[in-house]
Amino acid sequence: MSVVPNAGNGKITVPELLQRKSSTADSPSKKIVCLTAYDYPTARLADEAGIEVILVGDSVGMVVLGYDSTLPVTIEEMLHHTRAVRRGTRRALVVADMPYGSYHTDTAESLRNAVRFVKEAGAEAVKIEGGERRLELISRLTEAEIPVMGHVGLTPQSVNALGGYRVQGKTADAAGQLLRDARSVEAAGAFAVVLEAVPRELAAQITRDLRIPTIGIGAGPDCDGQILVTHDMLGLTFNQTPKFARRYANAGEMISNAMREYGQDVRRGAFPSDAESYHAVKMLEELEDAPVNRDGDW
Ligand code: KIV
Repeated sequence: MSVVPNAGNGKITVPELLQRKSSTADSPSKKIVCLTAYDYPTARLADEAGIEVILVGDSVGMVVLGYDSTLPVTIEEMLHHTRAVRRGTRRALVVADMPYGSYHTDTAESLRNAVRFVKEAGAEAVKIEGGERRLELISRLTEAEIPVMGHVGLTPQSVNALGGYRVQGKTADAAGQLLRDARSVEAAGAFAVVLEAVPRELAAQITRDLRIPTIGIGAGPDCDGQILVTHDMLGLTFNQTPKFARRYANAGEMISNAMREYGQDVRRGAFPSDAESYHAVKMLEELEDAPVNRDGDW
């Protein structure tokens, strides 16, 4: 496994993200830019594009593995994807999502699972869903030197309890609970908190209230940072996306067109061309000039 690069030289670190909190309100250029990635090429592209936090989200279950929800995603699947992202990332902070069931039983087991993400996959932080009820767990993880990103509001692992994917915090009571959740995550020692599907005004209030950065997804522009699911923003999903998931490209259409074109070329004999073929004569000449086996000659 590749080693996490040292801080300095532009490497994004947890203390640096915490420092950014003071400047994001006055200067949008200081906002924390985050995306999800699940594989080596996407992680490399995101890292080289200046994305600062790469989340190996359990959304991998829905956008890559074809599950109906994030609930079936296993620790082994998350470790596998986190390793690939780690290998593709030099500068960004790599955060691994702990999947459903990996932190819902006893604290000791949850801690062991979180340690696996750091030791076996090279994650620099883990993300866990839930507010007040995760207070003790977040404290234990931070005591064990594992930086934690919280996640409140719409928490997709609670889809059955919530009765669907809905905007959260719309009534005064629900807004009050959400504020308490965000404060608990901060009090427990998290270094940042994701606010998902929360009214803009409430997200702004939580952002003003907390000392740690808020990372919004469907939470309006006043958060300290933003995150999107990369497959949503690239047009690589098959279902309807939520209204906040701005589409920056239609990669699905590009890929589909390229595949159709390839199929047409094969079927009409236009691929491969002569120039894309190897030639026995040339190989024989080469063998005579240099009687060395040149396996792998492109
Ligand atoms: O799994 C994921 O991609 C997430 C983001 C939506 C924050 O949790």
